[in-house]
Amino acid sequence: MSPEPNLFPLGVATGSAHCNRKEERAELTRNVLTGAHTWLWGRRRMGKTSLVEQGLQDLARNRRKVVAATIDLLVVHDVQDLEVRIRTAVERLSASIVPKGRRSSGKLAEAFGALKPEFSFGAMGLGVRLSPPTQAMQGIAEMLLGLDRAAGMYRRRAVIVLDEFQQLGQLESGTARHGPEGAVRHAVERARNVTYLFAGSQRHLLASMFEDEDRPLYRLCRKMTLDRIGAADYRAFMRQAGISRWRSPVADAAIDRILATTTRHPYYVNALCARLWGGERPPSVEAVDAAWSRIVDEDKRVAAGRLVRLAPSQRALLKAVARTRGGVEHPASLEFLSPLRLPTSTGNRARVVLEQEDLIRRDDDGRWVLVDPVMTSYLRSL
Ligand SMILES: Nc1ncnc2c1ncn2[C@@H]1O[C@H](COP(=O)(O)OP(=O)(O)OP(=O)(O)O)[C@@H](O)[C@H]1O
Ligand SMILES: [Mg+2]
Repeated sequence: MSPEPNLFPLGVATGSAHCNRKEERAELTRNVLTGAHTWLWGRRRMGKTSLVEQGLQDLARNRRKVVAATIDLLVVHDVQDLEVRIRTAVERLSASIVPKGRRSSGKLAEAFGALKPEFSFGAMGLGVRLSPPTQAMQGIAEMLLGLDRAAGMYRRRAVIVLDEFQQLGQLESGTARHGPEGAVRHAVERARNVTYLFAGSQRHLLASMFEDEDRPLYRLCRKMTLDRIGAADYRAFMRQAGISRWRSPVADAAIDRILATTTRHPYYVNALCARLWGGERPPSVEAVDAAWSRIVDEDKRVAAGRLVRLAPSQRALLKAVARTRGGVEHPASLEFLSPLRLPTSTGNRARVVLEQEDLIRRDDDGRWVLVDPVMTSYLRSL
């Protein structure tokens, strides 16, 4: 295996594994520093977490006055759990905004007031504990506002990342509408020294949270959309990665094959390259194809599982789109639908569902293609 750092991780990609995203990184860090709250939308596994992590690392390198905490809402199951996680994040951030070696915490006590912070001084530096609030929702807003005051007093900027943010809407069922979303909004509206970053992949849920006038977060945030990494950027990255692995370049034809097969889906680019870069020699086109077949073999069960849950008309349409090389211009046309024996209205409905389910998307040139390259290869093999 390569002695080099892992250039193609399956998890978060930062540092030497992070390809391009220069403009997005600049925009994100600018937003953080100017206090422009941001909601970042990107399809599943498009690189949202990697972008945010990389942006925070860029800031940490250049601006020591920024402190950040990430809360992954995917693992939060109710409002009480959310409160505990936010409290832990606020405690940690508050401790880290106090300059090292400073043993006085008077300003923090003032910032958090009624939340009665307790302080400890140990080998790890300052520790901060906030008492659990009697009412979770109100507590969330108060803690976040306390953090904002504390950051202002020490002239620091704090960043709170709420990843998989659409989950917050799910937490509300059963409790009052706008519950936790309202608490967060209350803090976001008043924030002066904390920047909030919201990331997620479920477009319709997020859009309804951020673009619907009746929802609390309406118009508080700037929107950023994360697309695929450009082919030219990936090419340059892979050439460099080839040289650092084998001291010789990877053939352009092999790189093109990687980009075409994976349709530049960042997760699958990495899954495929991780295998190829484990080889003794730079990959040939044939080696790319062979490694890809193995990936499809291993992952096709997941694809099949999703297919089973679709209605027959949706399955038929998906399969026909997958099998049309280069994508489909008019999936609702008679010409496309009649060989499938689908009436136009049914075909149209199926297309809408497939798009909502994030199974198909429009390519840069407007043609419909599948989102998941493994699903494409699998459906072509049937
Ligand atoms: N800029 C990048 N350069 C190289 N690889 C990347 C980049 N961004 C993401 N990836 C790769 O893509 C995959 C998905 O990345 P990441 O987990 O950041 O995406 P995500 O959008 O947060 O996914 P999810 O929807 O599952 O939360 C990982 O394999 C990661 O290493
Ligand atoms: Mg993520």
